[in-house]
Amino acid sequence: MKAVVLYKSLTGTTRKAAELIAGNLQQEGWGITAVCPWSHPEMAAIQDADVVIIGSWVDGMFAFGQKPFGIGAIRHLPAINGKLAATYCTFAVNPGRTLDKLGAAVGGLGAEVVGGLALQRFKLAAHSEEFAARLVANVPLPLR
Ligand SMILES: Cc1cc2nc3c(=O)[nH]c(=O)nc-3n(C[C@H](O)[C@H](O)[C@H](O)COP(=O)(O)O)c2cc1C
Repeated sequence: MKAVVLYKSLTGTTRKAAELIAGNLQQEGWGITAVCPWSHPEMAAIQDADVVIIGSWVDGMFAFGQKPFGIGAIRHLPAINGKLAATYCTFAVNPGRTLDKLGAAVGGLGAEVVGGLALQRFKLAAHSEEFAARLVANVPLPLR
């Protein structure tokens, strides 16, 4: 399987998660076509990928109003019809319903969203590893 990891990061956590996820997937034998910000997507790498992974950071009031940063821009990314997708967000305290919102936005791009995970910023390595393991397990068997 080939994946592309698209992320948006303010202070580096979500970018670091993207790199960790890519490394973990490579250890599982997957190819990575690119790790790049979704604000500057590498179109050929997206085209070449079977699975599109989209990550952002939780933007909210900590106890309420949480959403993926850049949800409007994510809704306007190029269509990824026919591809599988997975989402992640990084957060500090409480992600709220960020993943649901991100999953709905990515589903709106035409992809089949196979899962998502909220990664706590202080447990980034462990949670990135869990994300990759769950993604590999959730890809339909004939495609693996
Ligand atoms: C303006 C702003 C709002 C945030 N709101 C939340 C929030 O509602 N809940 C939460 O758990 N973390 C919140 N955070 C923390 C970030 O989501 C978290 O630190 C994230 O890992 C940052 O990712 P980055 O380093 O890639 O920018 C907020 C951070 C900022 C700057």
